[in-house]
Amino acid sequence: MQENTFNFFKNEKKIDDKMILITGGAGFIGSNFIRFMRNKYPNYKIINFDKLTYAGNLNNVSLMEDNPDYVFMKGDVANQKDVKNVFEEFNPDYVIHFAAESHVDRSILNPDVFLQTNIIGTQYLLNFSRLNNVKKFIFISTDEVYGSIDKDHCTEESPICPNNYYSVSKAAADNLVKVSYQTHGQRINIVRCCNNYGQFQFPEKFIPLMISNAINNKDLPIYGDGNYFRDWLHVDDNCRAIDLVLHKGRIGEIYNVGGNNEWRNIDLAEYLLELIGKPKSLLSYIMDRPSHDYRYAVNFNKIRSELCWHPLIDFKIGIKQTVDWYLSHQDWLNEIISGEYLKYYDLNYKNRDAQE
Ligand code: NAD
Ligand code: TYD
Repeated sequence: MQENTFNFFKNEKKIDDKMILITGGAGFIGSNFIRFMRNKYPNYKIINFDKLTYAGNLNNVSLMEDNPDYVFMKGDVANQKDVKNVFEEFNPDYVIHFAAESHVDRSILNPDVFLQTNIIGTQYLLNFSRLNNVKKFIFISTDEVYGSIDKDHCTEESPICPNNYYSVSKAAADNLVKVSYQTHGQRINIVRCCNNYGQFQFPEKFIPLMISNAINNKDLPIYGDGNYFRDWLHVDDNCRAIDLVLHKGRIGEIYNVGGNNEWRNIDLAEYLLELIGKPKSLLSYIMDRPSHDYRYAVNFNKIRSELCWHPLIDFKIGIKQTVDWYLSHQDWLNEIISGEYLKYYDLNYKNRDAQE
């Protein structure tokens, strides 16, 4: 342990405290997870390591600013020096790796950064975690690694079959984490979760984009015929699952996390319009996403039976709260919907009228 480690934290570490390195903690799920942990385990020390890409926003963790047991460190998981620095400074006991390029449409426009961050970045974190005898490394993977399935549900043993640059990069990283366990006995878990929704989600993803556009009376862009299915889980339910995996997950195991809450895209968009009180005429069918996965669905019996986890937040309640959150946080939204966001929006959505 470096002598200066705790100078960064105002409270001293006691013997049973945990020092947790969270990567990507300024993003959607990472920031919700930090708040969740702060409420549940006020004695844990949290290091938030984030590059602050377009998706990273320190406003998401502004509540943590004055917390004596929280530190933010800016850094890139795909930069070996940055990763070395954070391990040298803090010598974490646990690593929970959320940081990623996370949006499929952006991965079609620019795949390279997905390979750098998601694959190389994960390997660097694995290397330093092993060197530093980290007690557990949790990789936040995704149900998208299984690829599209027409019916039934994927178990943890189902084949990995990604169909886009985002999911292929996550699948590669997921495999690297598995290999580190098989080769070195590295103490890992992998969590493969379905689509999350909730507060602080960047408005490029389906639900916050639909809400944001509806609030601003802009068209809601529906890819293809809208007959695609996603399984939606409240982010707080996912945080609870990750917490259980951290404390009780068996070393080397993969856990699927699902919502049991499948929605057709077009039905969900219509439901959001209804909640916000805007007309269906805002729906706009546009050219489909290339290599668009029809449906993701996981079987989560393993985490249910081993760790007693199941979703607790009813979708109709969770989505209403989420819509209300966006309605009451339009400053947060408006800060994002400018500059880089508008450029991306133009690039992804312009000249994309539906083809007859
Ligand atoms: P997000 O895009 O909202 O946040 C990603 C965060 O990672 C941002 O704060 C960003 O600044 C940071 N980051 C990106 N590149 C980095 C780099 N090179 N070094 C350090 N930090 C970097 O993503 P999210 O929706 O919160 O997803 C978090 C994780 O959960 C990802 O690994 C994603 O693959 C996975 N996941 C997400 C969902 C979902 O529905 N959002 C579902 C399943 C799995
Ligand atoms: P998204 O939030 O990008 O997540 P995923 O990684 O699961 O694809 O998209 C969810 C679904 O919504 C997916 O079927 C694509 C569709 N979609 C639209 O129809 N329009 C949009 O503008 C976006 C962003 C997504």
